[in-house]
Amino acid sequence: MERIECSTTEFIKVMSDKLSHGLLLTSIGQNGKPNVMTIGWGLQGILWRKPVFMVAVRHSRYTHKLLEETGNFTVNIPRGDMGKVIDYCGTVSGRDHDKIVELGLKTRIGKMVKAPIIEDCIINYECKTIGKAEIGSMLLDNDVISSCYPKGDNHTVYYGEILATYSTKDVITRL
Ligand SMILES: Cc1cc2nc3c(=O)[nH]c(=O)nc-3n(C[C@H](O)[C@H](O)[C@H](O)COP(=O)(O)O)c2cc1C
Repeated sequence: MERIECSTTEFIKVMSDKLSHGLLLTSIGQNGKPNVMTIGWGLQGILWRKPVFMVAVRHSRYTHKLLEETGNFTVNIPRGDMGKVIDYCGTVSGRDHDKIVELGLKTRIGKMVKAPIIEDCIINYECKTIGKAEIGSMLLDNDVISSCYPKGDNHTVYYGEILATYSTKDVITRL
């Protein structure tokens, strides 16, 4: 059968449309207080025979501290009208703001991890970190280092096993 060469960027764009608009990641530390931050860099797939969501979190994020403490997180795909939530959670830090309370987000403790899922979102994953890697210790191309890490502030990549997935009825019937 004839195959047509496609634009890789267009293909990736379609595949990761939701991710590029920003997803919401919740985490929780030892003090039991959850936090939410916007993520745009992540991947999902199969690793170590498990469904895995991989997220890259810079060392400077409060979320990084919480993930180091418990490794529990949830990934939440926002509704189309949640742009302001994505912006706020992507610019303000949980170090000095309770973003969940300030935004009035409805959260629920999931079954498998302590980090809550966000009920306002259409799809939720509950994830437990089963591996992590420091980007700084990887062999990166010089152009990646200069464009993404000009001042250090490296990423830790967390590999979260997806232990549970939730969605709303209207989304499931459209799949
Ligand atoms: C669209 C968008 C995507 C983002 N993606 C990431 C990401 O993948 N990793 C990361 O470390 N920071 C990312 N950020 C920045 C964090 O969301 C931002 O620094 C946030 O305020 C950190 O919150 P925290 O300190 O409460 O953890 C993104 C911001 C936006 C607006």
